[in-house]
Amino acid sequence: MLVVSMANFKTSVALAVVALAGISAGAGCAADNCYRALFPCPSPSAVSVASAFCATITASGTTATNYPTRATNACGTTADRYISACQCGPTCSYSTLATATSSSSTTSAPACEPPSTSTTSTPTTSTAPPCESTPVNGNLLYGDFECDVTPWTANVFAPFITVFGYSVTTPGFTKANSFQTKFLGTPNCPTTCTYARLTSPVFPVTPGVKYKYTFATWFDGISRGFVGTKINDRAGRTVNAIDYPVSKWRFHQTPFQANATENEAYVFYEWLNVESRLDSITFAPLSAYCGNTPPLGLLPDGEFECGLGAWTQQKPDPSVTAGVVNITADSLYTGSFPMGDFAWRMVSPGVPNPANQELRVSARIISGAMSVTPGKKYLVYFTSFFSNRTVGSIGVMINNSPIYTRNPNDAAQVTPAAFAPNHIIWTATAGLTSASVKIETLVFGAGTIAIDSVLFVELNDDVV
Ligand SMILES: *[C@@H]1O[C@H](CO)[C@@H](O)[C@H](O)[C@H]1NC(C)=O
Ligand SMILES: *[C@@H]1O[C@H](CO)[C@@H](O)[C@H](O)[C@H]1NC(C)=O
Ligand SMILES: *[C@@H]1O[C@H](CO)[C@@H](O)[C@H](O)[C@H]1NC(C)=O
Repeated sequence: MLVVSMANFKTSVALAVVALAGISAGAGCAADNCYRALFPCPSPSAVSVASAFCATITASGTTATNYPTRATNACGTTADRYISACQCGPTCSYSTLATATSSSSTTSAPACEPPSTSTTSTPTTSTAPPCESTPVNGNLLYGDFECDVTPWTANVFAPFITVFGYSVTTPGFTKANSFQTKFLGTPNCPTTCTYARLTSPVFPVTPGVKYKYTFATWFDGISRGFVGTKINDRAGRTVNAIDYPVSKWRFHQTPFQANATENEAYVFYEWLNVESRLDSITFAPLSAYCGNTPPLGLLPDGEFECGLGAWTQQKPDPSVTAGVVNITADSLYTGSFPMGDFAWRMVSPGVPNPANQELRVSARIISGAMSVTPGKKYLVYFTSFFSNRTVGSIGVMINNSPIYTRNPNDAAQVTPAAFAPNHIIWTATAGLTSASVKIETLVFGAGTIAIDSVLFVELNDDVV
């Protein structure tokens, strides 16, 4: 089967939209959006409902009207499109997904618990499959690939089956392993080709709720290809290899809000003209980042969705305003891609008097203390926003030692007035068992500096 894909994507700031098609079916049927809505392969229960419906519509001609509700948006309420889609039949392969789905209804102890110093009890309710890293507060999906690809489903598309492959390899971004796609030969691909897809099990979501979806990528060569990901077949995130340094892990996050009727979700990745590693996939409600057991990493209250929480704020310069605010209704942040509704921000009404500042710092936030292991590597991640290029810069310290500066003119800031990623790899020095992250605004002019999505995540020792 040849899968034609449309690389119909546009990049804007850090988020991009990708349209991918990857359903195949037999000849003489319309494998269109109606077909995809009727037979959502990652949802075996929906597929069996559709199959039962198809049996009635083909048996009794065109009289059946009990159209599956999940398909009516795409197929309408006349029989012709259902008949056409039913003729394709489901082409899903269930062996892995059926296992994944059944494991989500009962809880069993992880079969392959990674070595961990944290004390874990068997969760009473969990959608996380066995053989995955310990799911933390609110995590609905965990792709750490510590044992195998399972419960994800990987497919290499024809005609690339002999020249493209996948495996679970080491090192991972977090923990030992990662998922890796690889060129095994030279594919004869005239245009943009989709080589492979990795599909998650279906997991429950709550209508209307906001989620954060994370993953990490590693490209081992220069390529014009990209990894695209979608959530419930809607716009997800595109990671272009060309935008990232070769042979380095990079962390990504993207927001998702379940619509008013959406109560389950799945995600998939597709590799177009590229090979890469993939690791550390999480999908959790933003509210789960409130408190000191975040779904990912160690840092409490890093999304600011419940205010400062464990953070301490200091404001040496009384002329500035600082704090956690709901920024969604403020036009200053329009198109800035915040995660969730709240961010921490400092507003300077004018050029500050240095006498009121502490070494140019007007305001700062200091995280709760986290336990670290000497010699271990950690990701310090946050997003930063500057209302303009003259307001100032951001300094980051761990336990009062400076580790990083973000300037609004840095290339990685793309446009200052967008929440842009900051990606720092930090190693805990000998003897250090506790770390606290301090983020400072060094202010030189009028304007706003904002911070969101602060994470602190233990990494594999080999990460560079
Ligand atoms: C809500 O999400 C479902 C599942 O992804 C989709 O089928 C439906 O069209 C969406 N509804 C709206 C109003 O966007
Ligand atoms: C944030 O503000 C928006 C707009 O005023 C509002 O709709 C939303 O409910 C607020 N979010 C929270 C969590 O209060
Ligand atoms: C920066 O932004 C502030 C307010 O947001 C404004 O007062 C100031 O004039 C701006 N500076 C420049 C150089 O645009």
